Amino acid sequence: MTMNRLWSACAGLLLAAGLGGCGEKPAQEMRLAQGQAPVPWPKIASRAARDEALEQRIEALLARMTAEHKVGQLIQAELKEVTPEDVKNYHLGAILNGGGAFPGNNKYAEVEDWVALADTFYHASMDTGDGGLPIPVIWGTDAVHGHNNVVGATLFPHNIGLGATRNPQLVREITRATAREVAATGIDWNFSPTLAVARDIRWGRSYEAYSEDPQLVARFGAAAVEGLQGAAKSEDFLRAGHIIATAKHFIADGGTLDGVDRGDAAISEQELLEIHAPGYFAAIEAGVQTVMASFSSWQGEKLHGHRYLLTEVLKNKMGFDGFVVGDWNGHEFVSGCSRVSCPQSINAGLDMFMAPDASWKQLYANTLAQVKSGEIPRARLDDAVRRILRVKLRAGLFEAGPPSARPLAGDRSVVGAQEHRAIARRAVRESLVLLKNNGELLPLARNSRVLVAGDGAHNIGKQSGGWSISWQGTGNSNSDFPGATSIYQGIAATVQSAGGHAALSEDGSFEDDPDTAPDVAIVVFGEDPYAEMQGDIPNLAYDSEADLQLLRQLKAQSIPVVSLFISGRPLWVNREINASDAFVAIWQPGTEGGGVADVLFRDLEGGIQYDFVGRLPFTWPKDTQPLAAGGEALFTLGHGLGYADEGALAQLPEESGLTPRDTAQQLDIFDGRPLDPWSLEIADAQNNRLAVTSSVAKLNGISVRAVDRDMQEDSRRLQWRTPGSAGFYANRRTDLSGYLQKRGALVFDIKVDRPPAGRVQLGINCGTDCGATQPINELLKNAEPGQWRTISVALQCLAAEGAQLDMVLSPFYLSSDGELDISLHHIRVVENIDADISCG
Ligand code: BGC
Ligand code: BGC
Repeated sequence: MTMNRLWSACAGLLLAAGLGGCGEKPAQEMRLAQGQAPVPWPKIASRAARDEALEQRIEALLARMTAEHKVGQLIQAELKEVTPEDVKNYHLGAILNGGGAFPGNNKYAEVEDWVALADTFYHASMDTGDGGLPIPVIWGTDAVHGHNNVVGATLFPHNIGLGATRNPQLVREITRATAREVAATGIDWNFSPTLAVARDIRWGRSYEAYSEDPQLVARFGAAAVEGLQGAAKSEDFLRAGHIIATAKHFIADGGTLDGVDRGDAAISEQELLEIHAPGYFAAIEAGVQTVMASFSSWQGEKLHGHRYLLTEVLKNKMGFDGFVVGDWNGHEFVSGCSRVSCPQSINAGLDMFMAPDASWKQLYANTLAQVKSGEIPRARLDDAVRRILRVKLRAGLFEAGPPSARPLAGDRSVVGAQEHRAIARRAVRESLVLLKNNGELLPLARNSRVLVAGDGAHNIGKQSGGWSISWQGTGNSNSDFPGATSIYQGIAATVQSAGGHAALSEDGSFEDDPDTAPDVAIVVFGEDPYAEMQGDIPNLAYDSEADLQLLRQLKAQSIPVVSLFISGRPLWVNREINASDAFVAIWQPGTEGGGVADVLFRDLEGGIQYDFVGRLPFTWPKDTQPLAAGGEALFTLGHGLGYADEGALAQLPEESGLTPRDTAQQLDIFDGRPLDPWSLEIADAQNNRLAVTSSVAKLNGISVRAVDRDMQEDSRRLQWRTPGSAGFYANRRTDLSGYLQKRGALVFDIKVDRPPAGRVQLGINCGTDCGATQPINELLKNAEPGQWRTISVALQCLAAEGAQLDMVLSPFYLSSDGELDISLHHIRVVENIDADISCG
């Protein structure tokens, strides 16, 4: 155990006991005692200057507040678990909508619905009846690449793509446009920008980071804060359609060991300062008003309970005078805490709990009791409330009136506005990084005959990545993105303008006719959407054999291949690069896919319309290990070709160095989230269907709720009160016959919460009158209630009953004709196993 760990453990114990410090020694002294020079945390001069009149208003308000009022300000509850009455009765400081949460649980809620709901909450917070004290509630949302919870909003490239543009001014324009779209829905606060400096790109949130380079993150972070809030000291600061920004997740969320989400940054304080802090220096200087604590730990101690970093460093040394908000029940992981009780967090310097589930009322009651007993000192409580009031006053919310009366509110034309889409399209153009252009295949002539292939070609959900309408970005179809342009549509429009031709063929097939043969194939493929936790990977291999075969098959037919690789991070794609003549990293462009064709094709006169200006924001790996784990660079940070560059990229080595076990073929259908192309649907006995895209859904007696097994919301609880079914469906077919030949089985982890009352069948569907079922009630009846177990059913059983496994639409559904209560965790198709149900 290092000294620092010892210190942390000691501090944790004493905090839990309500004591001030370890042997009464301040942290700094402890560090000095280790013989190190103190780390020189700088004092940051925020441009959002202190205003004495405003400070006096804070004091006057504070003097009128009871302990109940004050504790209420410390709590942020989530849309699904809070009513306007709650906001009034508990004097709540804030609410939020999580990723994929909408007014009335309606994914298609209109701009007016958002504003109307915001008004209801606001009015509740300003109600003076029954001891109410009017303090406007604020509403936070994750508009992390545009207002991404709102159908019809402009979705910009994720931060990784913006990092590639090397254009902070563009980021300022993007976040300005984002603020406008958020303001149009009556929301005042954005949980953005992410200032993570992702150092191990196995981390599933790498794409939320602008770069692995701290200085780039700092420049972009400051620009994003200014775009969202307006320039500090200007008249527009936090006015005129600007919103409150959040610098997140403090600190070193991108510095965890092995890139594990919510993991531990086992690094020195000097590295914290040099690598992970510059973004915060820049954001605070630009006037950022809130900072979100990270789920992660530093040297084994959770940030949510880290007094030294939250209070000493961030507030005292750096001088941050806004408030620190927690992250999604992040306090519960602090040693000695639970979801409903964590004085340690507040005492460490957290100012507002993000308490998204129904238990926030207990958290409120416990916090109030801890204030009354002195476990949370009054001075600390007052400091937290002062900070929250300071931000609300600075944002002018006491004078702004209800959300509907604020600038841009309710203006439908702002959400997805053409001028915002134009900014996004430009960002797409500037974000593309050209990695290979052998034989100068690009730029393409406009009048080409183009075959557009790959599962990303006409798939706006896939090109948008995580945090796109739903939390993980899955479960959407193109129609969920009105006004958007797929990459294929952009290509089609471009070539059609010059007499060319674009044919969409996902699997790359085309008619064998020399007159219509394609001049070139553009193949769009890559990572399916993911977000926090679920996007973590063990190595950097891009492992779709199907995509590789598609590229090779086109090349074998002597068709020049342009690969457009969608991804939230650089991956090991040597084989795919070899199989392509040109290769472009396009990251996750968002809704304006037209920006891709803008750069790929020549203009009408045959000249270059837009050059490639994107440069790698991250090192591109030479093998399947990231730099952080000893891997080497294939392309260094800053690399990127332009049209003036000549020379061919030589063949790359194709050995991944992974063992067969690392690469065993397995097809995941649900793994914490439904995987592309499937989405979860429930259906009642009359076959009314409902696609489930949020964490709770109900249809005539059948309900679904996201629940936790190993990680938050990595499983689904399904309850049948009446007959019906639930399963995973796609509108495109999947060929499972390869698995059938290799003794494949459907394997799923299930917990029987209540044994089945009726008959339960597992089914596969391949279209109308095509499919098969297999009864599984015996297995479920015998399962230990409340215990997870894995069940496997040989594909052979379903094939024998008539399922056509080469054209599957739903690889897994369960139907029950009686009451049933189960949870599902991981559903997959695997090869070579001795299945529980094997049909002889
Ligand atoms: C929410 C997200 C949130 C996540 C927490 C989800 O259910 O919708 O907004 O970030 O849980 O891990
Ligand atoms: C994420 C945050 C997000 C919050 C609210 C968390 O799980 O880590 O980035 O702002 O949820 O959705």
